[in-house]
Amino acid sequence: MSQLTQKHLLGIKELQKSDLNLIFETADYFKEVINRPIKKVPSLRDITIANLFFENSTRTRLSFELAEKRLTADVINFSSSSSSVKKGETLLDTVNNVLAMKVDMIVIRHSSPGAPHFLSKHIKANIINAGDGTHEHPTQALLDTFSIRQRLGKDIKGLRVVIVGDILHSRVALSNIYALKKLGAEVMVCGPNTLIPRHIEELGVKKELDIKKALAWCDVANILRIQLERQQKKYFPSLREYYLYYGVNRKLLDSLNKEITIMHPGPINRGVELDSDVADSGHSIILEQVENGVAVRMAALYLLAGATI
Ligand code: CP
Repeated sequence: MSQLTQKHLLGIKELQKSDLNLIFETADYFKEVINRPIKKVPSLRDITIANLFFENSTRTRLSFELAEKRLTADVINFSSSSSSVKKGETLLDTVNNVLAMKVDMIVIRHSSPGAPHFLSKHIKANIINAGDGTHEHPTQALLDTFSIRQRLGKDIKGLRVVIVGDILHSRVALSNIYALKKLGAEVMVCGPNTLIPRHIEELGVKKELDIKKALAWCDVANILRIQLERQQKKYFPSLREYYLYYGVNRKLLDSLNKEITIMHPGPINRGVELDSDVADSGHSIILEQVENGVAVRMAALYLLAGATI
């Protein structure tokens, strides 16, 4: 049985292409499992996992919890708003106290970039990064690339993928760029110049400020939310103006004379970055992304635990 090259899943940057393919092959198996009448396997029945969410989440938190339960792991959940973090406890003290309860694996979301990497230097348990500030969101990129592979029925190599929107504040963008590049895709970013990091081309991606040209170029468009909660200043005049220049709607797609696959990691701000007539159309794979998230996270948990099917 193949193993991952890493003990932790901190980011896509640290993974090899072979790791990505191993996770996809394992997720293919778990996808079949969760479509059976009995959706559980006993693979992680001796493993205890703590889901530590220091930041809000709907999809990632529920998807990890479901993935862990489908693998028969014991699961404990933590949310910082109702914990002793509010009384001044440090991150490392909090995690060491959780580990003292014989926890084997940590899933962590934190607003500080590098928080999971910091923990990995101080604790022995396996760590999965469920999103660290504006840095990386590796399981999102894994489920995104798995969903592209599933929908387009072919190798990701050579596919053209554009990531649209608030690239500057997006951990989803960075993890997707790393994953797509490792798998051989051509990648473009598109958005207002103020929301695209300087020197992003050094990651091997193209940059395009005109949304119509970007959509005409691509096979797949991954549309991102404007992350107002992370923006320290105004990067564009108003959300209405953003929609006028970068909002993806049916009229814009109809003007392309070709169909493209539409993705979004969620949560969607309908009427800002994406209109309902696109988000809910047959070319959107947004709910397939969410569905695939469970199988992909089962694969990551299972492989990190070093279990055998
Ligand atoms: N895509 C994503 O990370 O969504 P949540 O913030 O709801 O987990």
